[in-house]
Amino acid sequence: MDGPTTLAFYGLGAAAVATSVATLKKRLELSQAKHRSLSGHSRMARRLARLMPFYEYGEDRFFCCDGAPEDIAARRRAGFTRLSALYRTRFAKTIAHTAHASAAISDLRFTDAYRVPFQYRELVAAQLPSAAFAQSSDGVTISDLDGNRFYDLTGSYGVNVFGYDFYKQAIERGAARVRELGPVLGPYHPLIVENVEALKVISGLDEVSLHMSGTEAVMQAVRLARYHTGRSHLVRFCGAYHGWWGDVQPGVGNPVPAHETYTLTEMSEQSLRVLRRRRNIACVLVNPLQALHPNASPPSDSALLAGRRIPRFDRQAYGEWLRRLRQVCTERGIVLIFDEVFVGFRLGKGGAQDYFGVRADLVTYGKTLGGGLPVGVVCGKRGLMKRFRDDRPADVCFARGTFNSHPYVMATMNEFLRYLQTPQADALYRDAEHIWNERAHALNMRLAAAALPLEIINMSSIWTVCYTQPCRYNWMLQYYLRAEGLLLSWIGTGRLIFSLNYSAADFAAVAERFVAAATAMRNDGWWWDNPALTDKSIKRTVLKEMILQRLLSPRTTRPR
Ligand SMILES: Cc1ncc(COP(=O)(O)O)c(C=O)c1O
Repeated sequence: MDGPTTLAFYGLGAAAVATSVATLKKRLELSQAKHRSLSGHSRMARRLARLMPFYEYGEDRFFCCDGAPEDIAARRRAGFTRLSALYRTRFAKTIAHTAHASAAISDLRFTDAYRVPFQYRELVAAQLPSAAFAQSSDGVTISDLDGNRFYDLTGSYGVNVFGYDFYKQAIERGAARVRELGPVLGPYHPLIVENVEALKVISGLDEVSLHMSGTEAVMQAVRLARYHTGRSHLVRFCGAYHGWWGDVQPGVGNPVPAHETYTLTEMSEQSLRVLRRRRNIACVLVNPLQALHPNASPPSDSALLAGRRIPRFDRQAYGEWLRRLRQVCTERGIVLIFDEVFVGFRLGKGGAQDYFGVRADLVTYGKTLGGGLPVGVVCGKRGLMKRFRDDRPADVCFARGTFNSHPYVMATMNEFLRYLQTPQADALYRDAEHIWNERAHALNMRLAAAALPLEIINMSSIWTVCYTQPCRYNWMLQYYLRAEGLLLSWIGTGRLIFSLNYSAADFAAVAERFVAAATAMRNDGWWWDNPALTDKSIKRTVLKEMILQRLLSPRTTRPR
C-alpha cells in the first residue's frame, strides 16, 4: 500500500471505531434511561409473561396462603361465606344476567378474569361472581338489576366529571339540536365550528381534528409527529397508558413487539439525555395522570399480590419535570404531546397544560369532552396538523374515520363546551382540588383513627387506595366495598374516580361505608398481623410457587 492509501485505511478504521464507540455509548445511555422495573423493560416483560404458569389455590390454601393459623383462616372462611351469601341474595338477578352474557362477551370474560390475582381467581369467581350490569343512574348513584343503589366510584372510566344527569341532558338536548340533519356523515353540522373555536381557546392551539376514541386521537397525534419530523420513534414513559394500540403498548398485552417505541423512565435525568442525543425521536408522549404514580402501571387489584402501591403526588415536582421536558423537546425539534384523554377537563378547564403550567405542541382529549358520547380529539399547532405537502402532492399523512364528526357527538360535545362557559362550571373547577384534597384528608384521618391499614392518595378527584400493611388479601377490599354499596370499576381499589357533583352529604355517606367495609374486612381476619410477613417475603413466596409450578408443568405456558 502506498502512503495515501495507508493513511486512508487508518482513517477509515479510526472512523469505524469512533462510530462503534458512539453507538455503544448511545445504547448504554438508553439502557440507563430505562426504569428498573419490568414495565421499563417491555421485551423482557413479554418473555417472562409467556413463561408465567397458571396455578391456583384450592380451598385448603386460599384462606391461609400467608401462613395464618387455623383460627384466622376460619374467620376468613366465615367472612367469605357470609359475603358470598350476601352477593347471591342481594345481587342475584344481576349476577345471573352477567353469568349468562359473559359466555359471549369477550370483554366481560377478560375483565372478570382480572379482578383479583390469578391464584385466587377460580374460588372468587365461583363464590363472589361478578355483577356487571346496571339499570339506571341518578345523581351520584347507579342501580343494578336487583334495584340496589350504589355510590358510583367508577366515574365511568373518567368520563363522568359533572354527574350522570348532566350527560343525560347533554345527550337529550344535543340530539334535539341536530335531529333535523340526523346521522348524516360527510357534510358537517354547523355547530362543529363553535366546538372547534372553543377547543382552540381551551387548548391554546391552532387546529383540531376529530376522532372516535382517545386511542385514535393518540394514534393520529403520533402519526402527525412522525410525518412532520421525518423521524421514526416515539418516547413513552414507563407505566403510562395511552390507549390500546400497538406502538404505545410495547409490553405485555401486545402480541408483537413495538420496534419504534422507547419506554423511558419518567422524571429522570438519563431520559432527558437520551432525548438530547438521539436523532430518531419524533415525539414524547406524556400522560399527566402518571404524576400520581410515576413509572408505575395503572394500579389494578389483580396485581395486588403483595400489597404496596407506591403512589405519590407532587404537583410542583411533576410540573418542574414537564418544564424541563418542554425545554429539551424545543431544543431538539421533538414534538411534545400531552395525552389529556383522562385528565383533560377534570383537573380544570384548561386541563394539564394549565394545571402544570406547561404548553404542549399537540394535545389529545377524549372521554368527558364527548358530553356522554364517544370521542377523541387532537388539538395542535398549525404546522403539525397539516396532513399534506404543497410541494409533494403524493406525500400525505392519512387519517380518516367514518364516524369522525358525527352530528350527535358534535352536539353533545357542544353542550359540554357550552356548560364550561357557565359560572357553575367555573365554581366547580375553582373548588374541586381543595374539596377533594380535604375529603381525602378527612377519610385518611378516620382510617388512621380506626387503625385500618389503608391510605388514600389523590390527585384532585382521582383517588387510589394504598395498603399500609403487607398482606396477601388486600384485593378482597373491593368485595367488601361493593357489599357496602360502593361501586368500583373492574380494576378495583386502584382507581376511584369521583364526579364533581358529589355533595358533602354524598361524600359523608361514601366515607361511612368505606370505613364500615374496611372494618368488616379487618374483623374477618384478612389483615392478620404477622411481623414476619413483608412485601419482599410475599414476593419471594410467590416466585417460588411459580418456579415450582413451572417445573411441574413446563408445557402450560400459553393457554389459548
Ligand atoms: C391517557 C389516556 N389516553 C388514551 C386513552 C384511550 O382512550 P379510549 O379508551 O377512548 O380509546 C385513555 C383511556 O383510558 C387514557 O386514559
